Amino acid sequence: MSQKPSSIVAIYPGSFDPITNGHLDLVQRGARMFGKLIVSILRNDAKEPLFSVEERMDMLREVVGVYSNVEVDCFDGLLVDYAAARSATVLLRGIRAISDYEYELQMALMNRRLRPEIETVFMMANEAYSFISSRMVKQVYSLGGNISGLVPPSVEARMHHRMHHRMAKTKTERG
Ligand code: PNS
Repeated sequence: MSQKPSSIVAIYPGSFDPITNGHLDLVQRGARMFGKLIVSILRNDAKEPLFSVEERMDMLREVVGVYSNVEVDCFDGLLVDYAAARSATVLLRGIRAISDYEYELQMALMNRRLRPEIETVFMMANEAYSFISSRMVKQVYSLGGNISGLVPPSVEARMHHRMHHRMAKTKTERG
């Protein structure tokens, strides 16, 4: 890489449904390391999300606003094509446990095959967050568990609102 880190544009892609404190830790590290960090949500995700892309973008903006070089965006199609269109040369991904490795390796190698000029950089979030995933946060919350400290307070408030709304809707539908 002949570019100095300060001029590098990096993409941090993901579903962020919702953003967790582990994701946020990575944003902070990425913002320190790269000139510009674009946190970007995949638009045509086959998984049924809890929050819409627009809601997730709002949630992200609420918590990354403190970093002047971080932008929030969304994309569809191939990640590497989107990265090239945004003049990014780095894809940032977080690795928690060894179980993440196989999937991440496959993705990184596929992306390299598609566009060799784009490099995937892996970072580890603080070990305090190594067990957090959006999926588990949603499951714990929906079963009445405490998720404070796992997601930013603004996200917790939105989850509370969403789940409350869903429960009320189910009750009305059941009559
Ligand atoms: O946080 P996630 O859900 O693990 O993120 C996965 C993501 C969005 C990075 C990945 O699914 C992706 O890049 N999708 C875009 C389609 C693509 O480029 N596929 C080829 C590389 S595997």
